[in-house]
Amino acid sequence: MSPTFAETLRAATMPVHEQANHSPYISALLGGELSVDAFADLAGQLYFVYSALEDTAEQVREDPIAGKFVFTELYRRAALREDMAFYFGPSWESVVKPLPATAAYCDRIREAGTSWSGGFVAHHYTRYLGDIAGGQIIRHKLKNLHGITGPGSRFYVFDQIPSAPKFRDTYRELLNTAPWDAADRKRFIMESVRAYELNVGLFAALAEDMPRYSMS
Ligand code: HEM
Repeated sequence: MSPTFAETLRAATMPVHEQANHSPYISALLGGELSVDAFADLAGQLYFVYSALEDTAEQVREDPIAGKFVFTELYRRAALREDMAFYFGPSWESVVKPLPATAAYCDRIREAGTSWSGGFVAHHYTRYLGDIAGGQIIRHKLKNLHGITGPGSRFYVFDQIPSAPKFRDTYRELLNTAPWDAADRKRFIMESVRAYELNVGLFAALAEDMPRYSMS
């Protein structure tokens, strides 16, 4: 039996997924080598990424294809705002600023996300499906290493998704049944690889400041 689109996508993005999850910043974070500030700064940059994703989602929600992937129960912006207030205090908005790599990522989300349905979904898939899988590993690290379970970790808690495995199945079914032809699917995969690369770029930018987070 030939693979489904979701299977092809997963396989095609596996190398760049490995690259993202073994990037020096993420490895040090998961290895317990970095202070809690490293988690805070990562979430700070993700605030801008999710603002771009969720602004774009609002723009495309009436689109017959992209709109099917707009799940407000996934939205992370409110959770990230709470996490920002926890880490940086009530004036966090004057402290947390996008790095150039983050700004470039947000520009691409807005550009690809409003130009065709697959552009939006490729960026949506790359972040949210990752958050409900690998993101949960970061959530456990935040708890085990730094004792943070409430505010500060809200970003990682999808309390409006009752079953992550069921959600993933539904999402994969949507990917498999979206009316994209072979060329669209190829273009989708390329955009998803690009989304991963933009994440790798963001982690590399954060890593430039890594000695600041060192606990040794
Ligand atoms: C913290 C490091 C990471 C770990 C430990 C990790 C781990 C995982 C695991 C175990 C899965 C498999 C879930 C399953 O079989 O259904 C997964 C899926 C996924 N991850 Fe990651 N991941 C990490 C980082 C990332 C990053 C940085 C991204 C992208 C920005 C990402 C995007 C994805 C996506 C899109 C999927 C879904 C793949 C699919 O089923 O189509 N992950 N991750």
